[in-house]
Amino acid sequence: MMIELERLLRSQGFGSRADCRALVRSGSVGVAGQLCENPFARFEADGLSFTVDGVAWLYRRFAYLALHKPAGYECSQRPLHHPSVYSLLPDPLLTRGVQAVGRLDEDSTGLLLLTDDGQFIHRYTSPKKAVPKVYEVTTRHVVDAPQIAALLAGVVLNDDPRPVAAQDCVLLGPRCLCLTVTEGRYHLVKRMLAAAGNRVEALHRISIGGFVLPASLEVGKWMWLEAPELELLAADKVSTF
Ligand code: URA
Repeated sequence: MMIELERLLRSQGFGSRADCRALVRSGSVGVAGQLCENPFARFEADGLSFTVDGVAWLYRRFAYLALHKPAGYECSQRPLHHPSVYSLLPDPLLTRGVQAVGRLDEDSTGLLLLTDDGQFIHRYTSPKKAVPKVYEVTTRHVVDAPQIAALLAGVVLNDDPRPVAAQDCVLLGPRCLCLTVTEGRYHLVKRMLAAAGNRVEALHRISIGGFVLPASLEVGKWMWLEAPELELLAADKVSTF
């Protein structure tokens, strides 16, 4: 798709058309390694690399990100008591409307997906799609066999008479479980553990679909999800430990 530089920058979150025009005219924008001061210069958008104030970007029709969520951050645009996960992202991603794909509690850590692709959000949050999510759960009390059996058979939560079962539940230590769930209800894992007679002390999301939070992604940092990672996500392969 051929597109004027001003429009391209707007689509990537660099502000209004007037803002983007001013940005280009001020000499802040490079395209494919060359300074470009003409906001109406036309480029093939697909695969286009550009810089804004020295920061490198690649044109992306949609933005798909993975964030290693730290504890103490809320997954809300208007957080009440803690900073927002959105404060960990650069402005252009916020301006283009990137949103969390489901939520992690303020005290939960690990893999959080974000995107500005509404269909993607639907695909990964719809209960019908049953995308597996794997959590490492640290519990207050020692986990016993009846608790594991209850989690696998299904426990009843206070807001729904239908039991909710873990797809998989592996003991990693006396107070540590690897739990796979396919729903995304509010406080789901905490409420499942409480219903099984235990209590969550710490919750860390390891994977979604077949995509595992990379060990190289530091706490509080984010990365682009490119085609290979998106394929893994869609693979619905549950990680085994
Ligand atoms: N289940 C919870 O209870 N909390 C989370 O953050 C995610 C799943």
